[in-house]
Amino acid sequence: MTDQAEQLRRKLQDSHAVIPQAKTLAIVSGKGGVGKSNIAINFSLLLAKRSKKVLLIDLDIGMGNIDILLGTNAKYSISHLFEQKVTFFDMIETGPNCLDFIAGGSGLNEIFQLNQQKLTFFIQQLEQAVKTYDYIIFDMGAGVTRDTIEFMKAVDECILVTTPEPTSITDAYSMIKHVLMERETAFHVIVNRTRNAKQGIEVSNRLIGVVKRFLNQSIHPLGSVPDDEAVVNAVIAQEPFVLHQHNSRAAKALESIAKQYLNEPVEPTNRSGFIRRLKRIFTER
Ligand SMILES: Nc1ncnc2c1ncn2[C@@H]1O[C@H](COP(=O)(O)OP(=O)(O)O)[C@@H](O)[C@H]1O
Ligand SMILES: [Mg+2]
Repeated sequence: MTDQAEQLRRKLQDSHAVIPQAKTLAIVSGKGGVGKSNIAINFSLLLAKRSKKVLLIDLDIGMGNIDILLGTNAKYSISHLFEQKVTFFDMIETGPNCLDFIAGGSGLNEIFQLNQQKLTFFIQQLEQAVKTYDYIIFDMGAGVTRDTIEFMKAVDECILVTTPEPTSITDAYSMIKHVLMERETAFHVIVNRTRNAKQGIEVSNRLIGVVKRFLNQSIHPLGSVPDDEAVVNAVIAQEPFVLHQHNSRAAKALESIAKQYLNEPVEPTNRSGFIRRLKRIFTER
């Protein structure tokens, strides 16, 4: 075969090869202030440390603070993208462990109010990112808003963060219920700010129990993170706690959560893919 023919054959083969797709993950909570952003950043850093290509996107409505927690002053936020002045890849900043991130500043409500042209642009950009990364992690706003629920139905998996407080658990259940009643979705649970490991197990068992009993669905416990001053100190120092005090109880707990997450992947509930589901959600709006 001539070199050219060989090259053409290779090209054709490549175009049929399945392009790996990023796993899309939403970090969510019923109640605000439970530690979502801190867990989103530190969990992303731990995946990145294990050589995963990770993009963290701040989608918290009006309260984006990923860049503050990372101690940087992001040049762009997701709203610049909506104005179509920049592409996704212009906006991405790189943090520690080669973690890529896009800062917040505005949120999900804006995406749902975009006109068709801007929306197409946004989805095209996300489509590129899905082909580039191993994981795309969205730090979401708290609470059961229509937009959050719709977005949660599009991602591959949700990681729900709750504290042991009864109000946090009730709000967590209410959020899971809203999503699962509309679409089968993979849910993981992290209990944050526990007194000890036993309390973490009790809280996640309680949540798993009610979801099984009333919704007849399974959710996956990932473990718990203790209430630890190291987290507060890290927030003040504007450094992620797994880097600020990597030997702290909180950092070690999240290490084992990240390890378990990678070692025990859940079966996808729907194989149609994030981008296709997202498009469907936007067109059905
Ligand atoms: N494991 C923890 N131990 C101690 N304090 C924590 C822990 N997790 C979160 N916090 C405190 O809660 C605050 C809110 O966390 P944050 O991640 O911003 O919550 P959310 O994103 O859910 O609003 C942090 O600034 C920190 O002071
Ligand atoms: Mg937050």
